[in-house]
Amino acid sequence: MSLEVRPGESVAVLGPSGSGKSTLLAVAALVEPATAGEVRFMGASVAGMSEAQRAARRLRHAGLAFDSEPLLDVLTVAENVDLLLAAAEVPAAERARRREEALAALEVAHLAGRLPHELSAGQRQRVAIARALAKRPTLMVADEPTAHLDSRAAETVALALCGATLGGCAVLFATHDPKVARCATRQVQLADGRVRS
Ligand SMILES: Nc1ncnc2c1ncn2[C@@H]1O[C@H](COP(=O)(O)OP(=O)(O)OP(=O)(O)O)[C@@H](O)[C@H]1O
Ligand SMILES: [Mg+2]
Repeated sequence: MSLEVRPGESVAVLGPSGSGKSTLLAVAALVEPATAGEVRFMGASVAGMSEAQRAARRLRHAGLAFDSEPLLDVLTVAENVDLLLAAAEVPAAERARRREEALAALEVAHLAGRLPHELSAGQRQRVAIARALAKRPTLMVADEPTAHLDSRAAETVALALCGATLGGCAVLFATHDPKVARCATRQVQLADGRVRS
């Protein structure tokens, strides 16, 4: 069974531990190559792309919030966001506005001058999501974006993630929290690496 995430749509991926949620997200965001099946990103088949082409698309068009995409520890929160925006070729004149907007939406604007090791796990998670959303990616992918958060902060994250669809973003996230999943346009269940519904 296939899965499509369209612009302006958010999809929550649910399923037991080990069912393949993180793997699906990594493949969709061009982080890992697929070992079987077909992957299309912005209409183009990924199989026909070189590693460099995949990396360029990921940098420019994919927003990644995975635990494996850490913040750089020698840079402040603001610098971390700006670096990613520069890499995504967001014009310099736009970066500060985008950064402030995204940090405010995730309620971490007051942490802009801090270094990553001065943040709690939940704060780091929200900063990572803000950094990815500031890019205004074509596809936003977040792996268990509320794992370290209390219910109020989880709601903030769910609203920011699902709200990105209003700007035309396609959003794909994995969660174990049914309440967070409900903010998505659509929910899909994974079992043993396959989409069930
Ligand atoms: N790098 C890897 N190499 C080989 N197998 C892997 C690798 N990463 C994950 N797997 C396997 O792929 C399957 C799916 O793992 P995945 O991490 O996608 O699950 P998940 O649904 O995200 O689980 P969780 O809810 O615990 O995060 C598991 O059986 C796992 O052991
Ligand atoms: Mg996982």
